[in-house]
Amino acid sequence: MAFPKNFLWGGATAANQCEGAFLDDGKGLSVPDMLLGGDVNTPRTFCPTIEKNRFYPSHQAIDMYHHYKEDIALFAEMGFKCFRFSINWARIFPNGDDADPNEAGLKFYDNLIDECKKYGIEPLVTLCHYEIPFAIVKKYHGFYNRKTIDLFIKYVTTCFERWKDKVKYWLTFNEINMTLMSKQVGNLYGVGIIQDEDLNRSEPCKFDELKDVPQERIQALHNEFVASAKAVIEGHKINPEFKIGCMLCHVTRYPLTPNPKDMLETQRIDHLFNDLCADVQVRGAYPFFAKKMYQDMNIDTAFMDDEEDKKILRAGTVDFYTFSFYMTNCVTVDENAERINDSMIGGVKNPYLKSSDWGWQIDPDGLRWTLNKLASRYPNTPIMVVENGFGAFDKVEDDGAIHDDYRISYFREHIRAMRDAVNDGVPLIGYTTWGPIDLVSAGTGQYAKRYGFIYVNRHDDGTGDFSRSRKNSFFWYKKVISSNGENLE
Ligand code: BG6
Repeated sequence: MAFPKNFLWGGATAANQCEGAFLDDGKGLSVPDMLLGGDVNTPRTFCPTIEKNRFYPSHQAIDMYHHYKEDIALFAEMGFKCFRFSINWARIFPNGDDADPNEAGLKFYDNLIDECKKYGIEPLVTLCHYEIPFAIVKKYHGFYNRKTIDLFIKYVTTCFERWKDKVKYWLTFNEINMTLMSKQVGNLYGVGIIQDEDLNRSEPCKFDELKDVPQERIQALHNEFVASAKAVIEGHKINPEFKIGCMLCHVTRYPLTPNPKDMLETQRIDHLFNDLCADVQVRGAYPFFAKKMYQDMNIDTAFMDDEEDKKILRAGTVDFYTFSFYMTNCVTVDENAERINDSMIGGVKNPYLKSSDWGWQIDPDGLRWTLNKLASRYPNTPIMVVENGFGAFDKVEDDGAIHDDYRISYFREHIRAMRDAVNDGVPLIGYTTWGPIDLVSAGTGQYAKRYGFIYVNRHDDGTGDFSRSRKNSFFWYKKVISSNGENLE
């Protein structure tokens, strides 16, 4: 057995990390526009105002807004069957609560979608990849306010209506579980709740200095579940053929030792970070362990008992499960174990695995394991890997070539692992690599953390002319796609 005949090979991006043009054609500010860059040892900083002398990487990103034709042509040259991108909510509703959508913003996505269709590339649209309008954050306190659910539904139904005959695959929220996994980042990116004291700061502050109010964060996450379920319900009314999925950041964890205490702690973390959100979205209800787990975190769980919300969650289950997979890590109760240098995901080092320069542990077997786990946890649910990739420093040779063999070998092993999982019987329908083109890193705001098959001449000091060029991996992935995953050499 090999990959299914219509397997969706492609790549994935996010508006805020690619488009740039941060105020063009009536776009409003969105949360990522308020972030400055960092690096592996320095968390990004949040700046509540736009200051002329500071560098906000998303403002120009890789200028895909003006290069989309060239970029999609390059994707088509690689043979993409699918392109995952997000719509920037603040391009459509610049203030979040505008009476009417911004026609110029809609037009940009008309063009982008038509360009994909021209090459027979299936669009896979993420409705919210952290791009909550900043006005919603300031005025309504993000998803903590139930009014934001209505604003979201107005935005997504505008998209569903506009592209009901052109887009079949949709995802509601990117990595919805980041809100549980990474407090401050979840606040800011995920649910868009920032406290007044942070909004009024005169100097930028680090992610980990942002104030976290767990009760608000978890309540806001609940509101996102309701928003996602309502989006599924409304989407299916507009076009019953729509396939609307959830999207999780799945970080598989192994117990560091056979100590039963490590085993139990691993299960607890797995339940909290990997299973809770997906169970709500795929099965339509909070899992049995959720209430106790939240109560142990001193959360008032009254929102879980709301009968109307329960009905919505039950009715709005997703059509497919998608996830990002970059790494695995270990769990132990031993406080002295060596931890991974990553402020967002954390975890303990696995002595059997190598890491990227950003400390992300490389584990293709972990992908096979994860796919098998998901297929048994969510039977009859198609699965798609919508992010997987290798962030690395690339070197441009004198002749312009980029020999990114490390990236090829990362992908080769992960695709092999997916093939094994398909042979195991996992209903995998597609694979979109993260960053088929270099883009701004979400975690660090760097350009230097490159993921692409396509190099973009743009750098962390703000230099570069945005020109594109093909890396070695470009030609390799093209072969992979044309052989439907058979030729990995
Ligand atoms: C996922 C996000 O967490 O990981 C992407 O959905 C992000 O937005 C990707 O870019 C890789 O992370 P980073 O920090 O290397 O950009």
